[in-house]
Amino acid sequence: MQSVGGAEPILFVHSLFLSYIFTVSTINSHSDMARVYIEELSKHVGEEVAIRGWVYNKRSSGKIRFIVVRDGTGLLQCVMVKGMIPDDVFNHFDSLTQESSLTVIGKIKKDDRAPGGYEMELSNLQVISIAKEYPITPKEHGVDFLMDHRHLWLRSSRQHAILRIRHQIITAIREFFDNHGFILMDAPIFTPAACEGTSTLFETDYFDLGKAYLTQSGQLYGEAGAIALGKIYVFGPTFRAEKSKTRRHLTEFWMVEPEVAFNDLNDNMELAEEFLEHVVASVLKYRSQELKTLERNTKFLENVKKPLPKISYTEAVDILKKKGISFEWGNDFGGTDETVISEQFDRPVIVHRYPAQVKAFYMKRDPQNEALALAMDVLAPEGYGEIIGGSQREDDYDTLVKRIHEHGLPQSAFEWYLDLRRYGSVPHAGFGLGVERTVGWICGLDHVRETIPFPRMIYRLTP
Ligand code: 4AD
Ligand code: MG
Repeated sequence: MQSVGGAEPILFVHSLFLSYIFTVSTINSHSDMARVYIEELSKHVGEEVAIRGWVYNKRSSGKIRFIVVRDGTGLLQCVMVKGMIPDDVFNHFDSLTQESSLTVIGKIKKDDRAPGGYEMELSNLQVISIAKEYPITPKEHGVDFLMDHRHLWLRSSRQHAILRIRHQIITAIREFFDNHGFILMDAPIFTPAACEGTSTLFETDYFDLGKAYLTQSGQLYGEAGAIALGKIYVFGPTFRAEKSKTRRHLTEFWMVEPEVAFNDLNDNMELAEEFLEHVVASVLKYRSQELKTLERNTKFLENVKKPLPKISYTEAVDILKKKGISFEWGNDFGGTDETVISEQFDRPVIVHRYPAQVKAFYMKRDPQNEALALAMDVLAPEGYGEIIGGSQREDDYDTLVKRIHEHGLPQSAFEWYLDLRRYGSVPHAGFGLGVERTVGWICGLDHVRETIPFPRMIYRLTP
């Protein structure tokens, strides 16, 4: 790679400019200068600062040169005028390519027309590395091309906005549970058995112990935690060998799973709505700029306040039928069904009491109707579909043993889980929220592939 002054600081000699001598000393010692990031510039108006970053774009007009620099926190337009700064500094402009790394030094002034609202009167510039011809140019690229260059695509404004919102969502999730007395409990990733059905298990050899499976959900371990500590949350990566190529499925995704001893289905639904309200409010409060970058209409997000509408599975089926969709009671909703149901509401809707036959083995049945599981899904509005799945858990030992056998699961792998019913069993409930689906909904994206830095899908393992 061509490098201008990459290893050694560039020394400029020019005796005419007193201010320039000052700048040279600044450049040589810029590592001593307080680190200033573009997002903090409002506190540095009128000061001379050094910003380290990359060339976002550049243009010239007569004797004026504009370099827009990004530093990961924002964009800053830097301006230099020929004759006002040393020629050797000015001439760097021609060699700068998109994504070249550099340090820019100059005085900050407020300028509402500039991207980000501030501008730098550039007095010096140090090139760190000249970038080769950058593959991602402002022209339109196909999704596959961008996904192949995901490691570079992450540098764009849109991806910055999404990743910052993802960060905010994760911060708000932790904040909510931490402030409500939940203890974070990490669950293992190698597990001996299925949790959410055997058809989506990733299998691997595990030394002399036979097969291990990548976890589909930390829930079963979370239940042990809830009985031990009262209320806990598991937060980690989960894996599903999903064969579906839909806009909602990843093979690796992050899930947060609260679990609370003595909660029933109603408590669980109330926890979910209070939790969602907090997460969405936090994004609206702290990431409005990013939502604007994504041109997100926040109307429906502002409606996310408890109580959320709650309908039974059977009522949801009626909605489908009224919309002319042929659907047989007892089946699970497909993506399109969820879209149609959620489109009837201007905020997330909670659907409860699903047919037990489409739900997992650990769900408690409804004492009013044994055909139903005390399950709940939260469907996001605007057609985003399921973002939360949860339930009250079966707490009776004999019933749970029966369910394990009905689902064809090996009882031996679940003996520890059955212990939770042998020793001080209590009613308990919890749910799992998929981080990527939530990011997709809040950001208004049409596919989950952009919601995680490096998505894993059935047809994508790189970069
Ligand atoms: O509904 P699921 O399968 O529920 C569970 O795993 C329960 N054990 C959770 C619990 O009760 N503790 O998954 C929960 C959520 C879904 O609502 C969805 O948001 C997300 O995880 N999810 C996926 N996200 C992306 N790609 C996939 N393949 C997903 N599968 C589930
Ligand atoms: Mg589900």
